[in-house]
Amino acid sequence: MRIGIGSDHAAFEMKEELKQYLEEKGFEIVDYGTYSRDRCDYPVYGERVALAVKAGDVERGVLICGTGVGISLAANKVKGIRAAVCSEPYTARLCVQHNNAQIIAFGARVIGIDTAKMILDEFFGAVFEGGRHQNRVDLISAVEEGQIL
Ligand code: RB5
Repeated sequence: MRIGIGSDHAAFEMKEELKQYLEEKGFEIVDYGTYSRDRCDYPVYGERVALAVKAGDVERGVLICGTGVGISLAANKVKGIRAAVCSEPYTARLCVQHNNAQIIAFGARVIGIDTAKMILDEFFGAVFEGGRHQNRVDLISAVEEGQIL
């Protein structure tokens, strides 16, 4: 599987370590930055990875900032993208099984590297269950189009 990864300066070190972890597991990684510890703006990297997922350049994405919140908010502004912020592995599995999330996000200032690895294991091991969940995901898309109320 081809994966896009992105972070801001707050998560640069974690991104580098997780890239290596995922590569060792056989994933192909595309790094959308940031490429140094220099201060930068998380929406740039959230949008880059989200657009890559939307375009089909990568199948899924990983986004990391200080909390995981800002970078996921930016990614979720791209139509059709479902980015889920997780701090533990259970949600990382369920956000795929039930919500068909294409992007996982977390905070390098919130969780440690071992938890981050467990989250990635669950996220990439999970498959969307479809069925009743498909209708709900379709409703999320309808909200995006302003069609529900
Ligand atoms: C950067 O200081 C920090 O605001 C950012 O990494 C992130 O936590 C925002 O949501």
